[in-house]
Amino acid sequence: MQQTGSPPPERLAARALTVAYDGVPAVEQVSLILPAGCLCGLVGMNGAGKTTLLRALGGFIAPGSGSVRIDGLPPALAQRRQRLAYVPQSEQVDWDFPIRVRDVVMLGRYGRMNLLRWPAAVDRRAVEQALERVDLSNLAERPIGALSGGQRKRAFLARALAQEATVLLLDEPFTGVDLPTVQLIITVLRELCAAGATALLATHDLEAIPTFCDRVLLLNRRLLAFGPTGEVFTQANLLRTFGAAPALP
Ligand SMILES: Nc1ncnc2c1ncn2[C@@H]1O[C@H](COP(=O)(O)OP(=O)(O)OP(=O)(O)O)[C@@H](O)[C@H]1O
Ligand SMILES: [Mg+2]
Repeated sequence: MQQTGSPPPERLAARALTVAYDGVPAVEQVSLILPAGCLCGLVGMNGAGKTTLLRALGGFIAPGSGSVRIDGLPPALAQRRQRLAYVPQSEQVDWDFPIRVRDVVMLGRYGRMNLLRWPAAVDRRAVEQALERVDLSNLAERPIGALSGGQRKRAFLARALAQEATVLLLDEPFTGVDLPTVQLIITVLRELCAAGATALLATHDLEAIPTFCDRVLLLNRRLLAFGPTGEVFTQANLLRTFGAAPALP
């Protein structure tokens, strides 16, 4: 429990993170700290390094140099302890994998289960509650590949909910998603962050950013700007990020 007056705990920290593919840097010298309770937008052009940064923060690719800490832990350990939830960009998922929606969500509970990995009542309840929260209970028996794009996004969000992760990394969760689902995702993320999690979310939906992100990180291989949305999400900074300033809402 956080004491009154003490700063929120540091959830996600990266120092001088550099990631290269075949010697070519895709992310260079990125440092950031996200405390508990923070919902941060990650913005940049196609190819700016957003997915690469999220994957390196989550420990899914090894950085060339620099360090990452999730709740003070190296990413691999944070993964094992189920602190980290990662919602990948849709194109990176093998949707033909034969697994039911309910089992995708149950994957979020494995770190908490006994050695036999046999779900207990508490695990089943967490899964049902998460499915209910994202309005997918009626599709729980379907193979994940038989869901629509927006329904799949909700299934991954349900897995993150069931997991009770403290750090959420989401790669374009709004792409191809209808407005009610966008609003549902935002509401759930807000609730999780209010309860002490932190979320970093890549998106091209610039209009929505000021409505729900309290922080923004602008990326073009290097970190261009990072801080409170009101200070960072400006026409001048977007011009630096995209080469042209989209009209802000
Ligand atoms: N597996 C890979 N091997 C080699 N280069 C890669 C690989 N993955 C990404 N890249 C390159 O790294 C750079 C950053 O790609 P990344 O996918 O991180 O960008 P992004 O900001 O997520 O883009 P988008 O908005 O299109 O999703 C690009 O130039 C891309 O071509
Ligand atoms: Mg990407």
